[in-house]
Amino acid sequence: MELEERLTLMRMHNSCRRKLRRLHPNYCLACVCVLFFFAVVLKYASLDCDLDDAIQTGDVNIPHCRDHYYMALNLLASGRKNCSKIIEGDWDEVRQTLIDNLDIKKRKVITNYIDYLKLTKDCATFKKNKKYVLFSLSNEERHYPIAYSMVIHGDIEMFERLLRSIYTPQNIYCVHIDVKSPDTYHQAVQAIASCFDNVFVASKLESVVYASWSRVQADLNCMEDLLKSTVEWKYLINTCGTDFPLKTNAEMVTTLKSLNGKNNLESETPPAHKKRRWEYHYEVKGHIIKTDVRKEPPPSNMPIFTGNAYIVVTREFVKSVFETAIAREFLDWAKDTYSPDEFLWATLHRASWMPGSLPKNRKYDTSDMIALARLVKWGSLEGDTNQGAPYSACTGKHRRDVCVYGTGDLHWMLQQHHLFANKFDPKVDDHAIQCLEEHLRYKSLYEKIM
Ligand SMILES: *[C@@H]1O[C@H](CO)[C@@H](O)[C@H](O)[C@H]1NC(C)=O
Repeated sequence: MELEERLTLMRMHNSCRRKLRRLHPNYCLACVCVLFFFAVVLKYASLDCDLDDAIQTGDVNIPHCRDHYYMALNLLASGRKNCSKIIEGDWDEVRQTLIDNLDIKKRKVITNYIDYLKLTKDCATFKKNKKYVLFSLSNEERHYPIAYSMVIHGDIEMFERLLRSIYTPQNIYCVHIDVKSPDTYHQAVQAIASCFDNVFVASKLESVVYASWSRVQADLNCMEDLLKSTVEWKYLINTCGTDFPLKTNAEMVTTLKSLNGKNNLESETPPAHKKRRWEYHYEVKGHIIKTDVRKEPPPSNMPIFTGNAYIVVTREFVKSVFETAIAREFLDWAKDTYSPDEFLWATLHRASWMPGSLPKNRKYDTSDMIALARLVKWGSLEGDTNQGAPYSACTGKHRRDVCVYGTGDLHWMLQQHHLFANKFDPKVDDHAIQCLEEHLRYKSLYEKIM
């Protein structure tokens, strides 16, 4: 475009010279004026797209400056791989990239706590170098803030990359750090949070014991803090440190709006073998132990549903968890059960008195694959999809029967409707995370979906 404009200018200039020989000198003066005017416009148009100016003045012009902004904010994957090909499902490209993962010498150096403490000494430089998007990308997003409850305990780099991928200035982010994490970890997360007005560490921190009530309490602590914030968020999404988004913030806003005030999470009639989890009293002594003491049935004989710890719920739902007497009774009752995070939200979501809930009837049962909250590949369910398996084999590694995704899972993953997927680990396959970062950043600037 610039070239064309320059050519036009040159043509005008030449015709001007030709005319100069035969026309009145006043015409030439006019010609020079027009030329000068165009030069000023050209200069102004390119300055207009300066990112630092845009952030400071809040004056962003995305349709006009898209290319300039993308030049400054792209998260292009490193190495020789072609992420477009990988995402399209080009198996040769996937295979080459998976082979790269086996090469120890090429393994990525992970940024540690100390690095982050140094990097965040100067917040402006940190945010610029890490390419955070510090302005709202559309009015629809600006007026539809989302609250995040992020419960983390290890791998600071993964947390920071997750935060960057979902960060936008109108949202609000609460981070719960496990009390047991090392001091330097706490300091580094605190240092990252301090660089943003809308990211904070939860006011109360729990020592999270696997499968115990403390996991729910961590989210509750964040929820309470988030309700106190002045941001009028519409929905709450919770994440852990090994999640990564599959959608841009704009796509999430569109999806949340389309839920029309309903929550969205896994919630199914429990299998018989899980019932002992809430029929017996459990104790926490370093880890969780079953006792032989039978528990009373839940308050009002609420039917229990099972799901997972990851939810997409409305602000009204979160308020009711704290403000409705029967919800509080149910919470109290669940405190000595096994893995309450995997039935508490699923059960509240089927209580008629909870905002955004679904009826108890089995017709409303929602599996993890149908719910939007989290995409997980369970090792025990992987197989040949032609033979009835829900998904094909994990191309990364398994951890506790859950797939830590590899590059070969991306093509499938990005065709799903889920907002987030679990698990990711840069030590297992950093290429997969890099390609998601590249893809989402590109889409957030170039894809008009609203
Ligand atoms: C990646 O592959 C696509 C074809 O799928 C191609 O159009 C594009 O130019 C390639 N990108 C790079 C950087 O090689």
